Amino acid sequence: MSKRELLLTMLEETAQSFSGFQVNDRGHALQTATRACRAGADDEVVVAALFHDAAKAVCALRHGELIADMLQQHVRAEVEQVLRMHQDFTAAHLNNGRGSWRRWLHAWRPSYRLTVQFVDEWDAPSRDPSYPTEPLDFFLPTVDRVLTARYPVRQSVVQRIVRRLRRELKERIKSK
Ligand SMILES: [Fe+2]
Repeated sequence: MSKRELLLTMLEETAQSFSGFQVNDRGHALQTATRACRAGADDEVVVAALFHDAAKAVCALRHGELIADMLQQHVRAEVEQVLRMHQDFTAAHLNNGRGSWRRWLHAWRPSYRLTVQFVDEWDAPSRDPSYPTEPLDFFLPTVDRVLTARYPVRQSVVQRIVRRLRRELKERIKSK
């Protein structure tokens, strides 16, 4: 299965979850991407908006980190950070167990401003059933443009993945 298929399958899976809202998570993703697009966001940000919650289908608690790892080769570091941090920012809008103050931990990061805009202007309001939202087909050419472009793997990301794998391996060994 290609990464494109995997991402789109994950997105479709989120149609099953509503996270306590009227609009399901798939509809929420389309609405977030629509708002980003209409605000003039570039392709990488629009694709990040479309998939920002897609990893909830696999790992709800840390879906931001997972989707950041999946898209990191296709988006600039700033956008990868938006995905990685967004759960700490949404905590100001909903109870996701992280504490509404969490975004301040990231105030020093260059991606802070974009994450504030991403979450406060596009993500948080995107559970509105009456908002005129674009269908998935509208975004597919943008998805294809972004997924066919590749950045070199960033060392910090590689190190983070290795650290995580080590940690998970240790936990598995402990639990045996
Ligand atoms: Fe979201």
